[in-house]
Amino acid sequence: MVEKSRGLDADEVFLDLEDAVAPAAKDDARTAVAAALREGGWHAPTVGVRVNDWSTEWTYRDVVDVVTSAGANLDCVVLPKVETPHHVAALDLLLSQLERAHGLDKGRIGIEAQIESARGLVQVDAIADASKRLQTLVFGPADFMASVNMRGLTVGERPPGYDDGDAFHHAHMTILVAARAHDLQAIDGPYLQVRDVDGFRRQARRTAALGYDGKWVLHPDQIAVGNEVFAPSQHDFDHATDILAAYDASTSEAGGRRGAVMLGDEMIDEASRKMALVVVAKARAAGMVRSSTQ
Ligand code: GLV
Ligand code: MG
Repeated sequence: MVEKSRGLDADEVFLDLEDAVAPAAKDDARTAVAAALREGGWHAPTVGVRVNDWSTEWTYRDVVDVVTSAGANLDCVVLPKVETPHHVAALDLLLSQLERAHGLDKGRIGIEAQIESARGLVQVDAIADASKRLQTLVFGPADFMASVNMRGLTVGERPPGYDDGDAFHHAHMTILVAARAHDLQAIDGPYLQVRDVDGFRRQARRTAALGYDGKWVLHPDQIAVGNEVFAPSQHDFDHATDILAAYDASTSEAGGRRGAVMLGDEMIDEASRKMALVVVAKARAAGMVRSSTQ
């Protein structure tokens, strides 16, 4: 799996030391992950490791061993089950010491905090402010469902009995708002039915629509769908570029310094420009180009 992950077209690959590794295999997994990182070779621009959470006996060894052995090849540490800002601060301090000890660039290794419990969710704003290394908040639906005793065993799917509405809306939105308030990325968690690509697409579309930047993938089959769903549609990208052009023209001296102008049947103003900028930024990040205009 590690070998295969090197060639995948994902924005990030992280190697797991946490819940996908049995307790008896933790030490071996740590050694294997450190060796793989030393070797490098991922197509993905960001490579991380998910360490165990601070309530276990493994976290410090995960961080110390992986960074000591391969810190220069590690872009970020995924910290699961973050419940207080101290969890992030503790990791930040440990990383700082390791960077000093091994001559690594100060502050380069980022932190991605998983919010996946009731405690984490109620503290998410303080957590989002806990370290300059923090880059991303990640929702963990499986642990979250367990934490709040949500009925249902299919991760990320509507729990049986909750037929209308979205049982995850509050958690998704709370994390998204905290992320945006602190200039962090918001990433949705995994969809475990790896053979159900349509189910993955359905869930991904929901959080993409809310404003999330991406979603975890557990299987190569989920990657292309994730990339497609989290990029704007060509139509939205083209429309956003039209809005920016029309707004620029209308606000200029030559355009009469008008802040509100009609584009087709729609009135656009400064807020439209801001919305369009978001779409254009996401489209450019996804490598899209505007379709040719006649
Ligand atoms: C991921 O870690 C999850 O708990 O969903
Ligand atoms: Mg989890």
